[in-house]
Amino acid sequence: MSDQLLTPKDVQVVRKFNHYESSQKILLVGEGDFSFSLCLARVFGSASNIVATSLDTEGVLHKKHWRSVEHIEELKRLKCEVLHGIDVHNMNREFRLIRRSFDRIIFSFPHAGHYNVREHITWVIE
Ligand SMILES: C[S@@+](CC[C@H](N)C(=O)[O-])C[C@H]1O[C@@H](n2cnc3c(N)ncnc32)[C@H](O)[C@@H]1O
Repeated sequence: MSDQLLTPKDVQVVRKFNHYESSQKILLVGEGDFSFSLCLARVFGSASNIVATSLDTEGVLHKKHWRSVEHIEELKRLKCEVLHGIDVHNMNREFRLIRRSFDRIIFSFPHAGHYNVREHITWVIE
């Protein structure tokens, strides 16, 4: 046995949340207000393995989901990579994601769209 003691820095604590683990490389697509990404990041204590993305550009997103601003700020503090304008239909050709691999890809509640129902209406989000 080695005579060197492990320090807390040497030990990577793996945190689990449902199907996900902090050691996994996780890609989130179709985020709205980024609350789900932030939830994962908070549970893990770090988002350095998380790439969180939205279809909307930053400007559009801020108008639709004003809380996304504070959520994204906290995500970035937790070392999350945040990308906008990522469309699941062509993300295999998306230069920011190409040649990268992930253990999990999460698309929660994809919204197909309905007449008179918009995804940023509070009761739809709730
Ligand atoms: C009902 S919202 C769910 C938002 C978020 N995933 C959640 O769980 O709160 C549906 C989301 O799907 C996104 N979306 C729709 N079509 C998409 C596409 N082709 N690529 C990526 N995201 C898409 C919309 O921008 C919207 O944020």
